[in-house]
Amino acid sequence: MADATRLELTWVGKDNPVCPERRFLLEDSTLSHHADGCTSTSDLLDNRLIHADNLLALHALEQEFTNAIKCVYIDPPFNTGQALRHYDDGVEHSRWLSLMRDRLVLLHRLLRNDGALFVEIDDTESSYLQVVLDEIFGRSNRVLTVVVRRSAATGHKAINRTPVNVSEYIHIYAKNRAAWKYKPTYVRRGDYDWAYSTRLVNPHDGHEQWRFEPLGELVAKTLGYKSTRDARKALGKKPFDERVVAYALKHSEEVVRYAQPKIEAVSKAARELIGQSERDAGRVFCLRRDAFSDMYFKDGNRILFLRDKVRNGEEGGLVEPLTNWWDDIPWQGIAREGGVVFPKGKKPEKLIRRILEMSTDPGDWVLDAFAGSGTTGAVSHKMRRQWIMIEAGDHCQTHVLPRLRRVVAGEDPTGITVAEGWTGGGGFRYFRLAP
Ligand SMILES: C[S@@+](CC[C@H](N)C(=O)[O-])C[C@H]1O[C@@H](n2cnc3c(N)ncnc32)[C@H](O)[C@@H]1O
Repeated sequence: MADATRLELTWVGKDNPVCPERRFLLEDSTLSHHADGCTSTSDLLDNRLIHADNLLALHALEQEFTNAIKCVYIDPPFNTGQALRHYDDGVEHSRWLSLMRDRLVLLHRLLRNDGALFVEIDDTESSYLQVVLDEIFGRSNRVLTVVVRRSAATGHKAINRTPVNVSEYIHIYAKNRAAWKYKPTYVRRGDYDWAYSTRLVNPHDGHEQWRFEPLGELVAKTLGYKSTRDARKALGKKPFDERVVAYALKHSEEVVRYAQPKIEAVSKAARELIGQSERDAGRVFCLRRDAFSDMYFKDGNRILFLRDKVRNGEEGGLVEPLTNWWDDIPWQGIAREGGVVFPKGKKPEKLIRRILEMSTDPGDWVLDAFAGSGTTGAVSHKMRRQWIMIEAGDHCQTHVLPRLRRVVAGEDPTGITVAEGWTGGGGFRYFRLAP
């Protein structure tokens, strides 16, 4: 019964959760699959593809997987009212809420104490879903909502009578906010941050002797010009700026910017040094820290180094910390991913990869109870995470199964295959509910 003293979302049927009888999962070994040459049943082989309604399947998994899953990602039907090719995307609002609630309660049980749930949704049911999630996980365990840009305002959508809807949302909840650890993630930054406009020219001297010069002047001199102004005039603004950026990236260890610290957010020791640096203009002060890198202050400002914003590798070049606005993942071209056609449902492999990168390590269990075309399993497999996928539709056999077989065989060149250096291996077991 609803508690009259509590603020909560109510709907018809909320007080009657479905409690199915426990059923067992039976392996269909004719459809289970492992890479050629694999004979042992090591971890990578114990992935599970389950062809069943997810309520019954999750219930069946409880015995073995309670408190075992590190990351749940789900992308349920958004309830937009459309009849899509592979599944129905319109059920009565209250029914949708009950369906989601019953499944989320089970998913919550399966999560590890340090695990997290990621739910992808659009704005049709997003707000209601968030309140349901608050009730199941507790508001204090809400991590963040990410906005994902899935398309652009081009084509026929541009003639809409409202602003064009190009977004989806990912609600993130930890099972226990204090125990969940975010693995810091960086994304490529397209433009140069011109606040980094100064170079420390004598880094090997003690910080009290440090001297700084404007980047533009240094570059102009190395090119044989007297000043930035002369160099810009001779070369043109854009070519000269490009030289400055190249120079800055090459010397990122010594290129700096100044930033005004938020006094209320820094330690007492840092506050004292900020005050001293204000009084003793031009001199650099250093705060040594055990667990973190040292902090430097000058003229009341903190000195930030460009080196902390530069990475090698795939997200190489200039990077910045990931925010909750994800507009950098391409959705065009995902129709090809995995070699299966799944219109209006499939998600980019890169999107799932980002979620797994920030929340899991190799070997962790990942669960997707609304598998669709099998993106989560394909990405988990290529990233060497263990996975469970549940899908009720026949596309479990026509889409997900062949997609994952290709991944195991190393015959799927699409999505994140190259980025992960995936060449095949492992396997999975195929299950159905016992009668
Ligand atoms: C939006 S799609 C997921 C797409 C997926 N993220 C991908 O990248 O391909 C939602 C899927 O949930 C499945 N589904 C809906 N209700 C289900 C249920 N009760 N049990 C299992 N699967 C269900 C649908 O058949 C559909 O394939």
